[in-house]
Amino acid sequence: MGVRGRFLSFEGIDGVGKSTQAHRLVERLQSDGYSVLHTREPGGTAIGAKIRRLLLDPNHDTMGCRTEVLLYAADRAQHVHEVILPALNRGSIVVCDRYVDSSLAYQGFGLELGAESIQTINDWGTAHLVPELTLLLDAEPETTLVRVGGDRIETRTLEYYRKVREGFLTIASEAPARVVVVNAMLSSDRVADDVWRIVETWLSR
Ligand code: TYD
Repeated sequence: MGVRGRFLSFEGIDGVGKSTQAHRLVERLQSDGYSVLHTREPGGTAIGAKIRRLLLDPNHDTMGCRTEVLLYAADRAQHVHEVILPALNRGSIVVCDRYVDSSLAYQGFGLELGAESIQTINDWGTAHLVPELTLLLDAEPETTLVRVGGDRIETRTLEYYRKVREGFLTIASEAPARVVVVNAMLSSDRVADDVWRIVETWLSR
């Protein structure tokens, strides 16, 4: 797409420590002098924050699966347009907490809507912008779910999260050049070290 910056995403199921690791990585990159933009989905823009409230409100129990897919995609389209692309054009490293893989895993695999149409919708919504590197933090849902709260998505069952995790691992096996699986069952320090090693190698490419 001819942008100057570098784009990486973090993925994983709820409670896996993704946001903490993204935060630690951003601090380390900044202390090394990089210009970094740390952002997240859903909700990385003012419009997206409103979409996030629609998506996660536990009262919205009548929301259809297709509506859910389209709202996540709309949030993402706005995020790419307003935040991610401008930062890449300025030459920054963009660290994004969740991106298209979350829709593939949570809606495509978790809700069993299939990956294909979700990929197509998101390809269009993002104008085909794909991260160069995706760090998939992987852990068993039995371990991670004790850490999460009770929004509309988080109140889904353990069975659902098992499908989401398998979905993420399937995505990783299908895109080995982009997605690196990180064992998130280890200590936070150990995971941060693993993440740093992977990112350092990637930056030197
Ligand atoms: P996130 O902001 O990562 O969670 P938290 O509220 O813990 O900060 O994501 C919110 C929820 O949205 C989370 O359960 C994952 C879900 N999600 C999807 O189902 N599909 C998507 O495309 C995205 C981006 C998130």
